[in-house]
Amino acid sequence: MNIEEAKLILSESSQEHVLAFWEKLSADEQVKLLVQIEDLDFKSIARMRNMLKAGDVAGASGGSEPVPPQVIELAGKERAAAYAVGEDQLRAGKVGILVVAGGQGSRLGYDGPKGAYSIGPVSGASLFYFHSRKILGLSQKYGVRIPFYIMTSDVNDSATRKHFEENGFFGLNPEDVLFFTQGMWPALDSDGRIMMDQPGHIFMSPDGHGGTLSALDKSGSLADMEKRGIETIFFFQVDNPLIEIADPAFIGAHAAQQADLSIKLCAKREPLEGLGVVVERDGRFEMVEYTELTDEQAHRRSDDGELYFKYGSVAIHLFSYDFLKAEALCDMPLHVARKKIPACDADGNVVTPSENNGCKFEKFIFDVLPDAKRVVNMAFERAEEFSPVKNAEGKDSPATCRQDLQLKWLRWLHELGVEMPLDESGLPVIPIEIDPAYALNAAELKEKGISLRGCGRPYSAH
Ligand code: UD1
Repeated sequence: MNIEEAKLILSESSQEHVLAFWEKLSADEQVKLLVQIEDLDFKSIARMRNMLKAGDVAGASGGSEPVPPQVIELAGKERAAAYAVGEDQLRAGKVGILVVAGGQGSRLGYDGPKGAYSIGPVSGASLFYFHSRKILGLSQKYGVRIPFYIMTSDVNDSATRKHFEENGFFGLNPEDVLFFTQGMWPALDSDGRIMMDQPGHIFMSPDGHGGTLSALDKSGSLADMEKRGIETIFFFQVDNPLIEIADPAFIGAHAAQQADLSIKLCAKREPLEGLGVVVERDGRFEMVEYTELTDEQAHRRSDDGELYFKYGSVAIHLFSYDFLKAEALCDMPLHVARKKIPACDADGNVVTPSENNGCKFEKFIFDVLPDAKRVVNMAFERAEEFSPVKNAEGKDSPATCRQDLQLKWLRWLHELGVEMPLDESGLPVIPIEIDPAYALNAAELKEKGISLRGCGRPYSAH
């Protein structure tokens, strides 16, 4: 793109101010700015401007009163049957894994890619280590190549790739680890103008995990899935090392219903816990994000005293390939968040605001839910599968996550008749850790047996 083309496209969308400092920029800055302008998604920017003008809030959909969906809980023979079906799908190489890891981890106060955060109670290994070693364990168990699609963003793509390279891809075949980057969007001020954080630079941030769909398409990952014969995609967020990746029972339940989309749900810890809630409205499913649930809805109780919207979504999904592919071509709703964004004033000075001065926009993956014709909502036990690393301290922090990992492994050891000395809070006196590539569950650990080893650091984490 040259300067004349840039002027034209910016004037067509009333964004001429982006070039306000053009004459003062160095040649290098000019080139970089032209590249940024060329990459701008003007169609989405027009939607953002319209949304701001209309004072619209995505997610606040109309229609009749939402009700909780039907949720299945698998146990006994039913679970065993679903498990066997899921194992067949895995063995046949029909399952791919997709993690969204493009976010910035700002609440955690960690600078690098969140997936590189050190979480192993003994090894200090990263979140990516645990996910990758589980996939390696599955791949070895079922004798099949399992592709691992990792969505990054411009903010952390090179650091994420480096983390995998430095750690030998945690034992995975590098050909089966496929990185792709999500889109980046500018922020707009209250007049719908693109915000500049330097005279020659547009402020950009990731377009939300809903950006997965268009990025899968654009990057060729969808085509890769098709080539490999992937029919079901297991989707999860990078922040939860307890996750049962590609849980066969979940895959089996999804397959039995020929579902477009399946969702794992767990009972909320408290009414205002930060989990989205699946609801049914006018025969369709929707996710109401925790920030959009009213106080009354969050606290409402059923006659049995349980929360009316009892279950939260922990962003563990299964997608059918066909549904994912169809959705990749659709426009998704936009969600707006008002933020403090460093911005250039009229003289080109960069000002760090003390109040919210701009709007960031994001797409959320779960907004595809209303388009899904067949949906399975499946409950799971939180202690076994969910303990995310979100905050630096307190709830959902590295400390609580390391405890929950160890409590899970303690239960496995207990099943094997191995009792560890515990402290007064019930945690092992000597920290424990089990490599997921060695055993994915207690049964596998029993089969392989245990021998206690020293506390080596198998892989370095950043
Ligand atoms: C999220 C879900 C919430 C769910 C909860 C469970 C959203 C909006 N809400 O909340 O419904 O109950 O997790 O833990 O997601 N990410 C990207 N690109 C982005 C933004 C995020 O890849 O542009 C990834 C992050 O790396 C992370 C995940 O999405 O893996 C979740 O993002 P986060 O901001 O932590 O969501 P929560 O507010 O915790």
